[in-house]
Formats: sequence, structure tokens, C-alpha cells
Amino acid sequence: MSPTRTPDVLVVGGGIIGLVTAWRAAQRGLATAVVDPEPGGGAARVAAGMLAAVTELHYGEETLLGLNVASARRYPGFAAELTEFTGQDLGYRRCGTLAVALDADDRAHLRELHALQQRSGLESQWLTGRECRRLEPMLAPGVRGGLRVDGDHQIDPRRLAAALVTACERAGVTLHRAWAERLVVAAGRATGVVTADGGELGAGQVVLAAGSLSGRLAGVPRDVLPPVRPVKGQVVRLTMPDRPGPFLNRTVRAVVRGSHVYLVPREDGELVIGATSEEMGWDTTVTAGGVYELLRDAHELVPGITELPLTETRAGLRPGSPDNAPLLGPTEVEGLLLATGHHRNGVLLTPVTGDAMADVLTTGALPEVARPFTPRRFGAAVLSEQPA
Ligand code: GLY
Repeated sequence: MSPTRTPDVLVVGGGIIGLVTAWRAAQRGLATAVVDPEPGGGAARVAAGMLAAVTELHYGEETLLGLNVASARRYPGFAAELTEFTGQDLGYRRCGTLAVALDADDRAHLRELHALQQRSGLESQWLTGRECRRLEPMLAPGVRGGLRVDGDHQIDPRRLAAALVTACERAGVTLHRAWAERLVVAAGRATGVVTADGGELGAGQVVLAAGSLSGRLAGVPRDVLPPVRPVKGQVVRLTMPDRPGPFLNRTVRAVVRGSHVYLVPREDGELVIGATSEEMGWDTTVTAGGVYELLRDAHELVPGITELPLTETRAGLRPGSPDNAPLLGPTEVEGLLLATGHHRNGVLLTPVTGDAMADVLTTGALPEVARPFTPRRFGAAVLSEQPA
């Protein structure tokens, strides 16, 4: 793209969703730019990277399940293409997941989840406690049973974000390292943004993909502002021992006292333990209580974690939406599209979001799989409840 040409597409937000949208748009021949002070940052710096369409299934989220499964199916091809294009390793591990129960209540909850998975046509296998420990010898002796889900994998979101930055650069996407402060709307049409330094970036179409910040861009008409809120997640990182036999072979997770806890073992020895889910506004403080609860719950699952070096603690903000599903596609403002609100599923939904956004940017229509996620599903009533 020549530096003076107004791009066809300007993506506001250079997290994994904004970057994949830009990469896919550029591949379709659209002159594309991204505006973000730190492309490759955002929630992906914190996320564990579970690709958990089956183990994160929730009642009432069957529509979202369709999108999650569609994206999970795209992952092998997407990861291979991105690795080949950039030469970068993504930490993509097709290692499966084991969801375990620690007491009778947990077991009843997991049985319900198993039944829901089966009704939804998903593959998962019920295991006894002993069978769980045979798979994962580090599990606590008290584990009462579990669900083996061989199709729920993991990727390293930091590597994914870095590879997407490279992919964008190689595909000719212009990266503007700046804050987008205000959307410019002229004669009812979005025409670009004004940045914090007062510069104006024009574009044929603007995609708002700023994660939890998407609801805060000035200049977006109130009834179009996405109803996205920050949902805090605290995560800790440990280092697993370099010893014969892996510490954990696959992601292990459970619901302990009503909170989700998961342990995601990476090939490079990192063990990510997450995550709290807190409605705390814009607060990203790592708290003693958050770390304590994560380690306490993870210790109940895998007692040996207390021997491991603690290497990092961090908090990030998921972009929550009223129905926990993303907002994808055109808004009532001509030229303004959304790709935000991915809540707990941003990493999983990266491939399908990139494809869907490239489709809508080139043809004007969302593909079938993404149509239920139009921002237009939220009426004025929902939007008027959002804080200004
Ligand atoms: N998908 C995991 C999380 O949001 O914590």
C-alpha cells in the first residue's frame, strides 16, 4: 500500500482479533491499516490459550457453540498457514483436555456437562478417577472422575499475536503505532479516526476491534457503541520441571467452589494457571486474593504445583458482551463494522473471525456461520443500559 493512499480498511485495535481481520482483509486485496499503540498486545498477553469449544460449553450458549466449533475446525489449517507464512512457531499443541471432579457436587456438574455435550453432538468420554490419574499421574488422589476431551487443544496466545503482527507486515498492512481517540463520521458515514496526537487516518471502512475498550471510542453514536465491558481475569505462570516424563500431558481443568480453574502445560515448560472472572471495571491489579484462590484451587487438582517456580502473575480484561458472544459485522453507521465482544473465546474464535470479517469487508455480507452475531441483535433497550 502506498503511504499516501487512503486504505480500504482501517482496523482500530491490534490485538489478535484486529490483526487477524487485517491480515485476512489484506489477503483479499484490500489496502489495510491497523491503529494501535502496541500491536500484538491486549488480552492475548494474559490469556492461557485454551481452544476449548467442548469443555467451555455452557447452557444457553448453543448458538455460540456453532461458531466455536466452526473456529476449532479451522485451527489446524489456520495454524499451519500462519506458521508457514511467518516461519514462527505458535505453540499450537493438539494435546486434548481433561476436566475433572473433586467431589460429589463437581461430579454431578460434570455429568450434566457430559449430557449436554452429547446432546450437542460433541465428543467427550467419561472416565473414573483412577482412569484420570492413569492419564495424568500428578492429579490429586481425591479426583472422583472426569471428562476426556481429545478435541480441545491449546495455542500460545503471545506467539499467536507475534505471528499475526509479522503476517500483517508481510501482507503489506500498515501498522500505525498510535491511540485512536475518536471516530470520524461525516454525512452519516464512518471515514476514519483521529489519533491522540491529532492526526487523522482516513479509510473506506473502519473496523472497531479494540477488545474491552471497544465501547469507549469517542465519536461512535451512542446507539451503535458496542455493549462491551471489561471482565477481569488474573492468571499465574509457573515453570514445570525438566525431568523424565511430563508434569502434565494435557490441559487439566475443574470447577472448584463454583470457580473455573485450569492448568495449561506448554511444550516449552510454562504452566499457565487461570483464571479469575471479576466484574471490577478497568482494574487490572493482581491481588493477593486472586493469586491465592488460583493456587489454592490448582493445588487441590495437582498438589505438586507448589514445588514449581512462580514466574509471572498478570491480570487482563476480557471483552464481555451481554450474551457472552462476539459482535461481528456492519453497524447502523455506514462504513463502521465491529469485531469485538469475544469474552472468554477470543483465541478460539480468531480463525473464524478473520474469515468472517474478510468476507463482510469484501462482499458486504457476513457468512452464514457468523450471521447470528450481527451487532444489530442488540436493540436500543440493551444499549441504553450501557454506561456512557
Ligand atoms: N477461556 C478462558 C478464560 O477466559 O478464562
